[in-house]
Amino acid sequence: MSFAPALRRGLHGKPTTNFNCQLRYFPTSVRGVFPFSQNASIATSASSAEAGQESLPKQKQPLSQEQRKFLDSALRVNQAGELAATLIYTAQTPLIVKSHPQLRTLMKHMYDQEVVHFSTFNELLAKHRIRPTAMYPIWQAAATVLGWSTAVMGREAAMACTEAVETEIGDHYNGQVREFLAWMKEMEDNGEEVGEEIRELVQVIRRFRDEELEHLDHAVENDAKLAHGHELLSQVIRRGCRAAIWVSERV
Ligand SMILES: [Fe+2]
Ligand SMILES: [Fe+2]
Repeated sequence: MSFAPALRRGLHGKPTTNFNCQLRYFPTSVRGVFPFSQNASIATSASSAEAGQESLPKQKQPLSQEQRKFLDSALRVNQAGELAATLIYTAQTPLIVKSHPQLRTLMKHMYDQEVVHFSTFNELLAKHRIRPTAMYPIWQAAATVLGWSTAVMGREAAMACTEAVETEIGDHYNGQVREFLAWMKEMEDNGEEVGEEIRELVQVIRRFRDEELEHLDHAVENDAKLAHGHELLSQVIRRGCRAAIWVSERV
């Protein structure tokens, strides 16, 4: 049974937030794919069309202060969340693979995808000079403890951890996608051209969301719901995720 489709449709999310990290994690090479940080802009030719002029340069309209603030917060939280995901799998994998070698490929697959997610947000933060959260060291420790402790509890608990985390993260990414789509609609309604950087960011977040929800499905297929005290464990982890997001938005 798959739980992911409902989340992919974005039934539960609100515009939300994120986690964070430290500069030493930033890669030295940063791709220039999302130039919205300082020069984020919206090209618009409405005024020239109204004036009947054909070749006036397109006006650049910067993001509002509120949009810029949301963008900074969103990328910062996403980066920290992906950091946590890589550390959870890093802590879980040795114990789980030792007792269930058949899960080696799955654990590596999910970890590898998290590494790409984390790396992408590292690059975006570095490129746009967005500060990581001050809570970064705390999330590092918490994610490692969460991964290790659920792995000690067994395969089902480890999978229940993934199920809970990915439920929250899928919801979180859906909220961001909805917010960015609302921006795009507003721009279009105002006759403005939506910047390519925003479109690309939405595509990236959607892809990552789908991969997170794929992890959720894998966890359920691997007996997450058979974990002892599943409901309590799930609720504790989900509330922890929401709290970490809330805090990281503000610190
Ligand atoms: Fe991820
Ligand atoms: Fe994930």
